[in-house]
Amino acid sequence: MNKKVIISGVAGFIGFHTSLFFLKKGYEILGIDNLNDSYDIKIKKKRISFLISDKKFTFKKTDISDYSALKKIFINFCKKTSPKLVINLAAKTGVRKSTSDPNSYYESNVIGCLNIARLASLYKINNLIHASTSSVYGNSPKKSFDIEDQTDKPYSNYAASKKSSEVLLYAFQKLNKINITILRFFTVYGPYGRPDMSPFIFIESNLRKNKINLFGTGNQKRDFTYIDDIVLGIYKSRNLKKYNILNLGNNKPIKINLLLENIEKFSNFKNLVIKLPALIEDVEYTSANINKTISLINWEPVTKFENGIKKTFDWHVENGRWLRKIKI
Ligand SMILES: NC(=O)c1ccc[n+]([C@@H]2O[C@H](COP(=O)([O-])OP(=O)(O)OC[C@H]3O[C@@H](n4cnc5c(N)ncnc54)[C@H](O)[C@@H]3O)[C@@H](O)[C@H]2O)c1
Repeated sequence: MNKKVIISGVAGFIGFHTSLFFLKKGYEILGIDNLNDSYDIKIKKKRISFLISDKKFTFKKTDISDYSALKKIFINFCKKTSPKLVINLAAKTGVRKSTSDPNSYYESNVIGCLNIARLASLYKINNLIHASTSSVYGNSPKKSFDIEDQTDKPYSNYAASKKSSEVLLYAFQKLNKINITILRFFTVYGPYGRPDMSPFIFIESNLRKNKINLFGTGNQKRDFTYIDDIVLGIYKSRNLKKYNILNLGNNKPIKINLLLENIEKFSNFKNLVIKLPALIEDVEYTSANINKTISLINWEPVTKFENGIKKTFDWHVENGRWLRKIKI
């Protein structure tokens, strides 16, 4: 079996864990990232320094929206190794920031995605896995979001850019000999998480004894999904044929207030919480219907929220020396 893979977004939260998993499975990896500063770059550098200690991991700092630079990297790796799989986890992330800077989101998330697909096809790579998001469902009133649901009413530029990438890949798959799998992730959390997301912000604010700015009532729910479950879902999707969209979510939405209550219980410290008005980009609720995911790749999340958030909290305590310096 060919064990070569190109992964983009490797300095990011999910790209880092995906790379670790594929290295453990014996893969040789070409890892790509532009190391942008959408959040504190120190944590991205930390993740990369960890990955490059493995001889089977090669890192290239490149922007996926730059077709010719990306092509040079693909040529070099593909002529030596003929990979059969590309995993595109590079993207401008963060729902709220996409309002003030839409262009950079479309450049990375749409043009960048197209460049990856074109090069994967050019170098005869059989399978492309592309990360999408629960945000494409907008403010859906449904109890659980099905992949057949309407997704053309996004609430943010981020969500619109991700929906655009799904649509462009649909046409691309019809026109080219490549299998494409879109994975819609639901609020992913865990160790080495994103400093712009609530689990990281709440845990660090709690351990630093800072106040917490809470947008909305805190009764909004998110389908928090543990990173190890997400990575297993990515791995299990690697051989799917044609064009597929799958939800990867925990299927058990949790109130933001409950996230904070858990953290305060672990540390025995209560934060001062400043309640602010809900933001227009934030939806009330997310929850994944995973019936198709179960039937196609036999994937179900195994990490209960209480266990996943405890593991994440413990990791923050153990790594406090460098984590306390990360800007949140
Ligand atoms: N974390 C979540 O909860 C979540 C939920 C839904 C979807 N997703 C999607 O999963 C993927 C990974 O997300 P993440 O949480 O790891 O985010 P992240 O921001 O930690 O990682 C994304 C990485 O991509 C890199 N990147 C951005 N634009 C790039 C470009 N033009 N060229 C090269 N590299 C670029 C960034 O530097 C970053 O390291 C993204 O596509 C994201 O939209 C994440």
